[in-house]
Formats: sequence, structure tokens, C-alpha cells
Amino acid sequence: MAEPLLELSGVHAAYGDAEVLRGIDLVVGEGEVVVLLGANGAGKTTTLRSICGMVGTRGSIRLGGTELVGRPTEWIIRRGIAHVPQGRGVFGVLNVEENLRVGAWGRKDTKAIEADIERWYGVFPRLGERRGQLAGGMSGGEQQMLAIARGLMARPKLLLLDEPSLGLAQIITRGLFAQLEDINREESVSMLIVEQNAELALSFASRGYVIESGSIVLSGTADEVRGNDEMRRAYLGY
Ligand SMILES: Nc1ncnc2c1ncn2[C@@H]1O[C@H](COP(=O)(O)OP(=O)(O)OP(=O)(O)O)[C@@H](O)[C@H]1O
Ligand SMILES: [Mg+2]
Repeated sequence: MAEPLLELSGVHAAYGDAEVLRGIDLVVGEGEVVVLLGANGAGKTTTLRSICGMVGTRGSIRLGGTELVGRPTEWIIRRGIAHVPQGRGVFGVLNVEENLRVGAWGRKDTKAIEADIERWYGVFPRLGERRGQLAGGMSGGEQQMLAIARGLMARPKLLLLDEPSLGLAQIITRGLFAQLEDINREESVSMLIVEQNAELALSFASRGYVIESGSIVLSGTADEVRGNDEMRRAYLGY
């Protein structure tokens, strides 16, 4: 693995009294793609939310060596993390281009922002064709592309994606993952991806973790995770 970029150690998280994460250890290396798998309610979304300071968290979460636990979300995001939450989260009443500009908040390099907008239109041509259209009226796949492009407008070091394929047709999902692969390779953006489509995610990620009831029960290279019988039965269905 490359130098660690994101390091979780002994992470506990709770909603009020209900403890949901019970001591998570997880690493994402520089430029690496890591997938987090697990059943519904296992704590995948909560793991991403604890990285972003959106849920009460104990333990240590470091980004490039800097401790994030206890910091407000805005501070964490400014350190170079983009979070695309489950269920997309585009601004429906803003048009495509306005959504992209919201993603660039905090950046002052006006020229580079314009260039980035054009770049994401190049990567996702559907967005370019619909740049003036309200995001709320676009298809699920288009909204997902927009949510990802908006996250990348912040020029993050680390992209957190929560179920990017949710509700998308398989062919759209495959196209989306191909684009993520290009983005990872060309921009060396590290990614932590929560995904129900385990097989697809493992074909793209270099390593994987499986979470069950708030604990990591399996981790390894994508091949190791894919080759684990228990894992296959539970999540791959064959
Ligand atoms: N805001 C909340 N308040 C209280 N409990 C919550 C809250 N959000 C999630 N939980 C609980 O925390 C546990 C983990 O939820 P989480 O959303 O992290 O799971 P998940 O692995 O992302 O599941 P899914 O695959 O369904 O998205 C679940 O038992 C859930 O009911
Ligand atoms: Mg979830």
C-alpha cells in the first residue's frame, strides 16, 4: 500500500446512547481506492459520517497525519475531503452549473474553477448538455454524476462515496465506475466507496473491508475479499 492518507483507529460512533461503530480500524492510502461493504444497517454510512464529523465519534481519524476527531465538519472538508452522501444530495432548485459552482465554495482560483467546470462537462457530457437545467428535474443517473462532479469541484484529496450506484441501471453504474476509475488514475484522488454492488466495487478497488454490526470482520486485497467464502455467500450471492 502507498503512504496512508486516511487512518481510522479504534473509531467508535453513537447516535445518542446507541453505539453504532465499535472500534473501526481502516486505512486508505494515497491515491488508493478502498471499498467498504456490509449489510443494511451495518454502519457504512455512519463510518463516512464520522470521518466528516457528522456524528459523535471517539477514537482517532487522521488525514495526512492531522487528527480530525472533534473538529467541525466545515474544517474537515476544508482539509480536502469531499463527501457524496447516500441518496445523492444535489440542490434540486439550482441548475447543473450552479450546483458545480457550489462545489467550488472556498476556492478563489476563478480561472481554474471555470476550467474544472468544463473538465467535468467533458467527463460527464450529459451534464454539459444540461448545464442550464434544474438539477431536481434530472434522472437519477444524471443527479449522481452531478453529485460526484460537484464533490470533485472542491479538488479533494479524498472522495467519500456512499452507494453511488443506488437506484441506477446496471449499464449506467458500469459507466459511472469507469469514469471514477479514470478520475482516480488521472487526478490521483483517493476514494473510499460504500457500495452494495460488491462485485463491481471489488473489481475497481485495490482493497476492501467488510463491516458487520459496527465492527470490521474482514479486510484484505480485493482478491482476498472476493475469494472469501463467507463474504461471497453474504454479499455476492453465489
Ligand atoms: N440518525 C440516526 N439516529 C439513530 N440511529 C441511527 C441514525 N442513523 C443511523 N442509525 C442506526 O445506525 C445503524 C447503522 O446505520 P448506517 O446508516 O450507518 O448503516 P449502513 O451500513 O449505511 O446501512 P444501509 O446499507 O442501509 O445504508 C443502524 O442500526 C441505524 O438504524
Ligand atoms: Mg448507508
